[in-house]
Amino acid sequence: MEIRDQRKLPHEYCVHALRSWQDAETAIADMYVRGAPLIGATAAWGLYLAAVEEPTAAAVRSAAASLLESRPTAVNLRWAVERILRLVHATPDTNLVDTLRRDAQAICDEDVEISRGIGEHGVALLEGISRAKSGATVNVLTHCNAGSLATINYGTATAPIYFARQRGLDVHVWGDETRPRSQGSQLTAWELGKSGVPHTLVVDNAGGHLMQHGLVDIVITGTDRTTRCGDVANKIGTYLKALAARDNDIPFYVALPSTTIDWQARDGVREIPIEERDGKEVSHVRGIADGRPVTVCTTAASTPISNYAFDVTPARLVTGLITERGVCAASEDGLLELFPEMR
Ligand code: MRU
Repeated sequence: MEIRDQRKLPHEYCVHALRSWQDAETAIADMYVRGAPLIGATAAWGLYLAAVEEPTAAAVRSAAASLLESRPTAVNLRWAVERILRLVHATPDTNLVDTLRRDAQAICDEDVEISRGIGEHGVALLEGISRAKSGATVNVLTHCNAGSLATINYGTATAPIYFARQRGLDVHVWGDETRPRSQGSQLTAWELGKSGVPHTLVVDNAGGHLMQHGLVDIVITGTDRTTRCGDVANKIGTYLKALAARDNDIPFYVALPSTTIDWQARDGVREIPIEERDGKEVSHVRGIADGRPVTVCTTAASTPISNYAFDVTPARLVTGLITERGVCAASEDGLLELFPEMR
């Protein structure tokens, strides 16, 4: 299995082969791959690789236990691992490799269809804004990377934007830089640029100012875990965008595949584990100088650092959730209307 090594973008495009489940674990933990749906898909391929190495249920279960520890917040990891383990339970060891390969591929194929559904439902929101503005540019603000790089294709927050472009809508994206890992400047800006979507990079704290000056029509972000009551965990800083959007009466939508809903959790602030990452992500900045990749330290070596990777936006600040089955209120009732089987 091959992945794009996202740590190197946008300066280098490197494809990296995963040859063992441990490679998949490293790719997830060290963010060669990132974004909730892609993390889930990578874990599924990791379990297939575990079966290739040793085609026994015990070996796959042991790899699963390790993979589950690789990143705590994105629930797609747990979703994919549990789905594969259910299959392992029902499959004789002799068929394990074939079955897990087929299901890892199915997870990827389904993800593409899910993102397509998000795009189809989300684009209606952008069309509505465009109509209300008599065809003038629709300005979307997004945070982090919830683009095709975070999924198998189309992305989650970007899917409505890509669909809008296909339909000829005039759309412009404000992309937050998204410190400390800079998913906005290094991934979102790169992929929007490659797709020909007009976009402008802004620092993370610019959103409130842009909103006050009428330069944002809608905020659309992704999410790493959404509770059954509609609380949304996403990249650190998302909550502050939601507060600014509420203060400026700007719709704040979250685009998500149903695989990102944690049906067991209700209160996001209390129940969603928030990953704390290495302080070096804050103190050090990666870039390119004289054509060569460099990493520099921007702080005093002794500066104490904390690095919370995600925050939770309470459902009351979310205008709506864009899913593959439609757009709903960020509430248990709203989600259950679209997913009645989870009642
Ligand atoms: O830490 P990451 O880069 O894996 O987190 C990704 C995000 O938080 C994104 O904002 C994204 O919306 C969630 S996945 C589509």
